[in-house]
Amino acid sequence: MAGSLAGRHVLLGVSGGIAAYKAAELARGLIKAGATVQALLTEGAAQFVGPATFAGLTGRPAHTGVFTDAHHILHVRLAREADVAVFAPATANLLAKLAVGVADDLVTSTYACLTCPVLLAPAMHTEMWQHQATVDNVATLARRGARVVGPDDGDLAGGDVGPGRLASVDALLAAVAEALAAASGALAGRRVVVTAGPTHEPIDPVRFVGNRSSGKMGFALAVEAARRGSSVDLVTGPTSLADPPGVRVHRVETAVQMRDAVLPLAAGADAVVKAAAVADFRPASYRAQKIKKDADDASQLELVRNPDILAELGQLAGRHRAEGTGAPVLVGFAAETDLEEEHGRDKLRRKGVDLIVVNRVDAVDAGFAVDTNRALVLGADGTRMEVPLVSKAALAAVVWDAVEARLPQDETGAS
Ligand code: PMT
Repeated sequence: MAGSLAGRHVLLGVSGGIAAYKAAELARGLIKAGATVQALLTEGAAQFVGPATFAGLTGRPAHTGVFTDAHHILHVRLAREADVAVFAPATANLLAKLAVGVADDLVTSTYACLTCPVLLAPAMHTEMWQHQATVDNVATLARRGARVVGPDDGDLAGGDVGPGRLASVDALLAAVAEALAAASGALAGRRVVVTAGPTHEPIDPVRFVGNRSSGKMGFALAVEAARRGSSVDLVTGPTSLADPPGVRVHRVETAVQMRDAVLPLAAGADAVVKAAAVADFRPASYRAQKIKKDADDASQLELVRNPDILAELGQLAGRHRAEGTGAPVLVGFAAETDLEEEHGRDKLRRKGVDLIVVNRVDAVDAGFAVDTNRALVLGADGTRMEVPLVSKAALAAVVWDAVEARLPQDETGAS
């Protein structure tokens, strides 16, 4: 099992499904591994397994109502005490409430106050698990940083068989330990800057020069860094994505605005990861009135070069290193139509960065606007790693692993 549970405080949220009895086993496993466990039950959960069972197993009262300890504002206190929170089983109803921010009982109100890593262990009938509403709710929660564990395929209530069975207690224990380990790794307590999305370079009030970046890659990087306990500034061009929780989001439109936002944030940061697709050029002038389609000069668009933000950061980092004052680990993304190592290495050198993530933008399942990507991660130290088709969340984890390996060690010797 990765990491240790000893001495860690686990919040266990139980909702109303037949798998609630397995949450009692999970509580027992957590206690055996040395954790303290605070169980919270929805009204539905208490119909399946009584609070006395959890109290007996954990040695603490299992709370069911917001008002049992109202003068201590129970949900806020419980959320602040938690090192990690696991919701098992998470029913379709609970997932729906969490996804839209309903806080109408102790479990949902406590969730709304959490800043620690969150694990969701769905369990329900196959039809409910596969319903588009549940699929969307789970995707929303995962995009905001929750780790979804399971469900497994197997025996369900009422003699049915299929996907929807609560993940095994062993898998849940391993996932809790892993989440705790990630949140106390080399990135914990660091400050990082991530860029995302396209830039839009306005031509007139209705038109712009831009590209197809959706922001998904950069947002996945920001979510993963926050999950690892880092303080995250996300500078993003125009996207339709919602602000990820626990991340400071700075919304900009143009390359010049992105530069103005990124440079001060990068000063003193531990790492800067630039997944934004910054427009290399912008119109030389902005027309305050919409250009008429029959205007004499409508077919001419004069362009000027935008600042290369990453190259500027690379130059600054080079200077700081020469002066011995330290510089952030710099990561660039390279949008290519092939994964040629030579192109990537050339960009790595020209921009003066530590890592370059070369990704294909000519495939239907990678690059722009999809949830998956494939990449070649090249290090200035000569390292090379091919990442096959994976989710953007998984690629983000690979990138931060590579950054963590390059962070300077502190005085205690920890990286
Ligand atoms: O947003 P998605 O839809 O999820 O798509 C993700 C992505 C394909 C946009 C992303 O993974 C990606 O490849 N981002 C970088 C795209 C890009 O601008 O590549 P480039 O090879 O042109 O630039 C190389 C690096 O220099 C990038 O880190 C870029 O942010 C940076 N740059 C480029 C130009 C410029 N003027 N300033 C910069 O800082």
